Amino acid sequence: MAVALPIYLDNHATTPCDPRVLEAMVPYFTEHFGNAASRSHAFGYRANAAVEKARTQLGQLVGADPKEILWTSGATESNNIALLGTARARRKRGTHVITVATEHKAVLDPCSQLEKEGFRVTRLPVDAGGRIRLEDLEDEIGPDTILVSVMAANNEIGTLQPLAEIGHLCRERGVVFHTDAAQATGKIPLDVQEMHIDLMSLSGHKFYGPKGIGALYVRRGRPWLKLDPVMYGGGHERGLRSGTLPVPLIVGMGHAAALCAEEIDSNALQELARLRDRLWAGIRERITDVAVNGTMDHRLPNNLNVSFHGVEAEALMMAIREVACSSGSACTSATLEPSHVLRALGVDGEATHTAVRFGVGRFNTEAEIDWVVNHLAEKVPMLRAMNPLNEPGEGGTDLRTIRWSDSLS
Ligand SMILES: Cc1ncc(COP(=O)(O)O)c(C=O)c1O
Repeated sequence: MAVALPIYLDNHATTPCDPRVLEAMVPYFTEHFGNAASRSHAFGYRANAAVEKARTQLGQLVGADPKEILWTSGATESNNIALLGTARARRKRGTHVITVATEHKAVLDPCSQLEKEGFRVTRLPVDAGGRIRLEDLEDEIGPDTILVSVMAANNEIGTLQPLAEIGHLCRERGVVFHTDAAQATGKIPLDVQEMHIDLMSLSGHKFYGPKGIGALYVRRGRPWLKLDPVMYGGGHERGLRSGTLPVPLIVGMGHAAALCAEEIDSNALQELARLRDRLWAGIRERITDVAVNGTMDHRLPNNLNVSFHGVEAEALMMAIREVACSSGSACTSATLEPSHVLRALGVDGEATHTAVRFGVGRFNTEAEIDWVVNHLAEKVPMLRAMNPLNEPGEGGTDLRTIRWSDSLS
């Protein structure tokens, strides 16, 4: 079957906006353009009603009350408000924060900022599959610990963390639990009540909504959560995120959430996993010396991260330009530093430089997956044959001996 090129398999970096989402948004740019905070006329009421409907839609996807959803610009901002806001507000109780070595930079960097402000940050190690050990977390929580931040699903290797167990432990020990669910939303069922989650970051463009919109779930009720705002203004969004609400984007994110809720109830996620498994089975069958990074258990249904031994990921991506995928994390791929996630798994130097991330999405087809497998099966052996670094025994260089962080600035 003919496929349209290029093929998009980079759905962890971003997803296309679903045409149904766009359709829902359009009237809010033109006809219903009111400011949701203008409570004195019909334009404002209508905009506000749309914002509240979207809050309900997003809340329903994650088991939250609409009042617990705050709009932000994306998961980066949500993470910053959650981490900086909670730590600063709880400073008198303690100054210890726990996170994980494989988190996204949008968590690791605010944690580094907290260190500059005098907080102590522990970055938990992970096992070879990318999961934390609950015993490690339990051992690290002390009387001084105020906040734990563990991502729901990893953006490079798709590893799912045991959220419910972490939430239970944190609640028992009186520690606030934040999770970055940017990659997990819409791909796995999430329930903030059942999982004892206090704070959760969400991003619209990761689940077929528009870019530039995100949300932070902030639990209400006892035990009371207090956060300091990180910016100040008109006091919107429970005083935590001031600024005029981008109504069309909010409508889009709400609609995208409703579509994801339908998918979770149907067999769409199994279909996503089936396509991903077909990709992996095809690669394994047709190409020698390949290894999956992370674990196939506890993995996002759409993620595959593969090392092609002896082939630089950047060279492979050039050779398969018709396939949009990524080496390492697209969010940090401006640097050629080996992925901090793969290093944390204990993956050796060569495998980190030969790792390619594929992210299957709602709009991919079986024919596209088969085309990608065929293309890889053609290009990988060619690149291996051309690569002088592949014959260390015959005077070439062993990729494993290169000190990448020194040689690439
Ligand atoms: C796990 C994770 N957290 C946060 C972000 C940042 O999200 P946003 O683009 O909405 O700021 C990303 C984006 O790649 C991500 O994968």
